[in-house]
Amino acid sequence: MSNSFHIPYGKQEITQEDIDVVVETLKADFLTQGPKILEFEKNFAKYVGAEYAVALSNGTAALHLALLAFGVGPGDRIITSPITFAASANAGLYCGAEVYFADIDPSTYTISIKAIEELLNAHPKGHFKAIVPVDFTGYPVNVEEIRALADKHELFFLEDACHAPGGYFVDSNNKKELCGSGNYADAIAFSFHPVKHIAAGEGGMVTTNDEALYKELLKLRSHGITKENMKFDIPDAAEQGSWYYEMQELGYNYRITDIQAALANSQLSKADKGIVRRQEIASIYRKAFEGVNLKMQAVNDNHFNAHHLFVVEVEDRKGLYDYLRSHNIFSQIHYIPVHLLPYYKQFGWKPGDFPNAEKYYKHCISLPMYPSLTDEEQTFVINKVIDFVKRK
Ligand SMILES: Cc1ncc(COP(=O)(O)O)c(C=O)c1O
Repeated sequence: MSNSFHIPYGKQEITQEDIDVVVETLKADFLTQGPKILEFEKNFAKYVGAEYAVALSNGTAALHLALLAFGVGPGDRIITSPITFAASANAGLYCGAEVYFADIDPSTYTISIKAIEELLNAHPKGHFKAIVPVDFTGYPVNVEEIRALADKHELFFLEDACHAPGGYFVDSNNKKELCGSGNYADAIAFSFHPVKHIAAGEGGMVTTNDEALYKELLKLRSHGITKENMKFDIPDAAEQGSWYYEMQELGYNYRITDIQAALANSQLSKADKGIVRRQEIASIYRKAFEGVNLKMQAVNDNHFNAHHLFVVEVEDRKGLYDYLRSHNIFSQIHYIPVHLLPYYKQFGWKPGDFPNAEKYYKHCISLPMYPSLTDEEQTFVINKVIDFVKRK
């Protein structure tokens, strides 16, 4: 293997076709707020089976705006998983809400429904405003059970599906519910960061089947400015022309550019192929690691894992991480539990609060998982993992 040999844990794949559409967009009339955004929104909504989709500057903005659109604000409380990227929790803080966590299930590594239930039952109705479960690694949460809990406890349900476009959950009617369909969650957030399934450079999306929520998201995406349902509460109202707009609430500039939307749209057309390849890679890992002393994430036919990540748990995680690095394999750790991040300590969270999450963090490691990973590279990774684990 050459000196430049380097296997990351995740990587985008940009084709000539992707480059061509971006160049075409650069030569067109709009660099932002042009036709590519709407085209991408329509295609993405169709891909996940939702009515509405709002493209945004990144996945964090998607989470933030969805919570804002639910009306989450100071004095409110939300619940998320400790095993996620900080953004899932930070979105609540941006709204001025308090963030609570429910421990993970030690086999799926997603938020435990039992733990959510215990947390909800320990407080009066109305204590929590929203729940933000995460389809961690691409493993879809049980949206049906979470919807039932959300209804019972009058919560908004925001699914963080940043890892999971193309994943689906099979509900009790044997119906495939694609992550993002909006049939169970009130809103679903996606990210188009380059390591994710669909690369836009930066980008995000909220999907929903709620028209009012959709309109609110459109407004919040662009400063709270609108030309719909205007109040004309301005001197000389009759003198206002077609330039006139109103800022009716405080929104943000969370827009995506046409350039990014064009790239994402092109990537979306290849997303299914990517999912198939990710499944192949996952099953090769699974087969190779049978009988090896490491633990893999649960497999369940009703939870089709979109496999943004392939995580395993090993006894000597740091040892394996360093060993792989010494062989130019750049694995990654997902994630340091959010409640243990220094910023979150001020809210009173401490080690021991979420034992399953903390135990998982001690042992977890994400192995290379991306469609362009070659068989030769994957065999190399597998051999190195097995060498290390067997030597212990
Ligand atoms: C689970 C999860 N939620 C939210 C985000 C935030 O997405 P973005 O980086 O596009 O803001 C990420 C990104 O890594 C993520 O992994």
